[in-house]
Amino acid sequence: MGVFFLYNRHMNNIYVTTAIPYVNGKPHLGHACDYLLADIYARYQNGKGKSVRFQAGTDEHGNKIYKKAKELDIPVSKYVDENSKNFQDFIHKLGVEYTDFIRTTDESHEQSVQKIWEKLKDHIYSADYEGWYCEGCESFVTDKEYAENNGICPDHQTKYQRLSESNYYLRISDFKDQIKEAIESGKMLVLPEFRKKEILKLLADSPDVSISRPTSQLTWGVPVPGDDGQVMYVWVDALSNYITVLGYPEQDISDFWPANVQIVGKDILRFHAIIWPAMLLGLGLPLPKVILSHGFILANGQKMSKSIGNVVDPIEVLERHGLDAFRYFFTRHIDTFADSDFTWEKYDAAYENELANDLGNLVQRLATLCGKNDVSAPDFSAAPDAEYTDYMDNFEFTRAIEYAWGKVQDINRRIDDTKPWALVKEDKDAGRELLASLVSDLLSANELLKPFLPDVTAKISDIFTAKTITPPETPLFPKN
Ligand code: MSP
Repeated sequence: MGVFFLYNRHMNNIYVTTAIPYVNGKPHLGHACDYLLADIYARYQNGKGKSVRFQAGTDEHGNKIYKKAKELDIPVSKYVDENSKNFQDFIHKLGVEYTDFIRTTDESHEQSVQKIWEKLKDHIYSADYEGWYCEGCESFVTDKEYAENNGICPDHQTKYQRLSESNYYLRISDFKDQIKEAIESGKMLVLPEFRKKEILKLLADSPDVSISRPTSQLTWGVPVPGDDGQVMYVWVDALSNYITVLGYPEQDISDFWPANVQIVGKDILRFHAIIWPAMLLGLGLPLPKVILSHGFILANGQKMSKSIGNVVDPIEVLERHGLDAFRYFFTRHIDTFADSDFTWEKYDAAYENELANDLGNLVQRLATLCGKNDVSAPDFSAAPDAEYTDYMDNFEFTRAIEYAWGKVQDINRRIDDTKPWALVKEDKDAGRELLASLVSDLLSANELLKPFLPDVTAKISDIFTAKTITPPETPLFPKN
């Protein structure tokens, strides 16, 4: 009996995580990806009656942040407080509803990370090291990568630095075979498939990882227990957030760990698919079920960067056409897995042609016809849709919203073909029956859109399930 309940409780729980951004600047458009994908998944699972935990947070240690605060002449703790708050505000503006927010400067997190270090002791050793380092990545690179990239980090466009120091290392070699097996067998599914191949190659070449920095180089971090001269490497501290937020190691986290999906950008997949699994295996914890790596948002085909001057302000995007438009564009036109381009032209076109024309007009037209002909809400209960479920369960979010949008377009086509406005004049009952069935179709499509567009779908449900159907006073997507 007890075992049965335990089993059920675990089956009903879902844990989704997002990368925790560095707080050395304001949120930018790219940061929206992690949150939106996680939110869509969380809402989808909530809709199925699951109990969902959804973690978000901020990564607040490391030299990048320390230097930036010094540059601005602000106390570091004040600087990270302000920026962490900016991120929280940003996430709320995206209509994203996380359940847990963690900051790596939280005292409880710092204490837990030190305990994690102690638990990993058998796999940690100290050694001298000389090698190439990228401050932007907060990471060493191999000589091979250094040569391939001509000495310049492709993600940050800065020169690698030569560092020579004494460090602690995590013995990745202790876990390589297990990680390889987990990735190959799909026990830890790395999505998309083409990234999985890249990771297996990196894993094969991966040396042991330096996991501390001397305090002469870095002070803004979690001290290594038992060694005043060393501070933990920011990635060990940051990756631990996914379990410290659940209460590890003080609490039993098995209700929610392993995570169902961990959402990260392609640039940080290697940390999540190599260092993180090594840490988990060292702790005797299971590996996440899925690591989903999304592509990058480009601006006019180029990486957004301050020096090119093509950084798009996400708040400006949000304010242009409202929240639903933002969520729509960034799931339908920014592909879940591949790099995709943002341009204002594409954004406006999607708003006008798809949201305003396909959906906004449909609601207006159908609600007006129902109102005039006294059609009241049909009994509606959402039926499962196998194709959609398949997309959502496999994290194919762009496909899922495309599919749902196809349903919206089908209804428009059906209205054009069946001309309910003419039919009600010829045969009132048949016309009303047709309208009721169109409303049912719209409510079904609306159901599929709920995780993506929480605001407008709530409005559509209200309009078409009210006793008397009346069109909204202002169009759902007014044209500017
Ligand atoms: N602090 C680390 C993550 C630690 S997770 C334990 C970090 N921070 S970040 O601020 O650089 O990036 C945060 C997230 O935003 C990452 O998932 C990253 O891939 C994502 N993106 C940053 N720029 C992006 C785009 N232009 N497009 C899409 N996502 C991008 O890395």
